[in-house]
Amino acid sequence: MLSLSLKPVTPFTHQTPKSPTSTKCCISERGHCFDIGDTFFRHESATGRDLGVLAAAIYKKSHNALRVLDAMCGCGIRSLRYLAEADADFVMANDANEEYGSVITGNLERAGKGYGENKRWVITHSDANRVLTECYLRRDYFDFIDIDSFGSDSSFLRSALGAVKLDGFLYLTSTDGFSSGGHRPLHSLAAYGAYVRPMPYSNEIGLRMLIGGAVREASVLGYHVVPLFSYYSYHGPVFRVMLRVRRGKHPDNRHYSFISYCSRCGNSYAISWDKLSAIGCSCNANVPGSLIVSGPLWTGPLHSAPFLTEMLNLAEQWGWTGNGTGKQLEKLLNQMMDESDPKLPFGYIKLDEVASRAKVNSPSLGTVLSILHKEGYAASRSHIASNAIKTNCLMADCVRIVRELQQCTASENEKYQQVVEA
Ligand SMILES: C[S@@+](CC[C@H](N)C(=O)[O-])C[C@H]1O[C@@H](n2cnc3c(N)ncnc32)[C@H](O)[C@@H]1O
Ligand SMILES: [Zn+2]
Repeated sequence: MLSLSLKPVTPFTHQTPKSPTSTKCCISERGHCFDIGDTFFRHESATGRDLGVLAAAIYKKSHNALRVLDAMCGCGIRSLRYLAEADADFVMANDANEEYGSVITGNLERAGKGYGENKRWVITHSDANRVLTECYLRRDYFDFIDIDSFGSDSSFLRSALGAVKLDGFLYLTSTDGFSSGGHRPLHSLAAYGAYVRPMPYSNEIGLRMLIGGAVREASVLGYHVVPLFSYYSYHGPVFRVMLRVRRGKHPDNRHYSFISYCSRCGNSYAISWDKLSAIGCSCNANVPGSLIVSGPLWTGPLHSAPFLTEMLNLAEQWGWTGNGTGKQLEKLLNQMMDESDPKLPFGYIKLDEVASRAKVNSPSLGTVLSILHKEGYAASRSHIASNAIKTNCLMADCVRIVRELQQCTASENEKYQQVVEA
């Protein structure tokens, strides 16, 4: 069995083709060489693959078993990494495109042969829904199912929930930034059961829309899902969520509700189902169109802090943190951990919005964070938006803080100027 601490540390590189006429590229990711041929492959998804592998390795460690279904495997890089890094006992690598077969085979052979008594992998070419449903019908359940899909295709949710083991992990995807941006509410309603309107933190809404869709599908089967981490990447955009599937109803129904944003006061609130008839904002704005309501969406935590701690520890053990590309992964995991503070509500506030309401220049994010903490508010950066904060401080207080900051800075500047002139 591979040791969890013996992992390659090589950063991502893209080597030039071996010959100018060759259409095959030898790519390297985390020390694994593989070909992409004419398959769909994006370097930018490497972080999503890292996160998936870390989660799978933690699962293997705690369950001493790991059967992975990579339902849309492309060239098979994820499958290879689940085998080689997460020490998967078995991987089913599926991609509907039969023409990818030889590339996938070549890549998975790097992890050992896929036949014989102890075969560790198999390749199939079928529609993901068919594969998942056939696994369910055979009672061939998987510990970990990765669905790296395009757009807002949510038709896999039910079949994936049927094929995953209880307590197993589902790694879901949406790349539909249009729906999360609130630009086609009827489409998000059809795909995820959520009527999504434009909100200032739309990329977080994208994650909450995807989790919410899984919550709904899971509840049909008498299950609930627990988000282990949620990851937004602007390349695409890509929304990825890792969910643990549990038996029974969710212990806390509060986390699947509606979200309101008031453009007049800038505050957001969660609206429970029983308060739908009394939707309004505490600022009592009667301005038509000032209150935007989206939902139902997942309003609970985006991540599990203990799970992220395990991921960070493992990343450190594997040499995936520290310098170079490691710095990015470490920063991301730390930011996700900060976002896991249970006192933090959904959404984030863009500093530009605060500054524009306060009619001042945009302040330094670090300074605003430290003032919020000093005043006793929960506050963190958001891994989703670089110039935004997650906080339980209402907009009016954020505005006061940045105004005071500006005044303080102005008078300090004045003092400094006087010293310089004297
Ligand atoms: C985003 S790419 C996968 C990339 C790959 N997972 C990676 O990390 O490099 C999606 C893949 O899904 C395949 N695909 C699209 N629709 C599918 C379906 N309904 N069932 C199975 N595979 C499908 C495509 O051929 C494509 O290779
Ligand atoms: Zn309001």
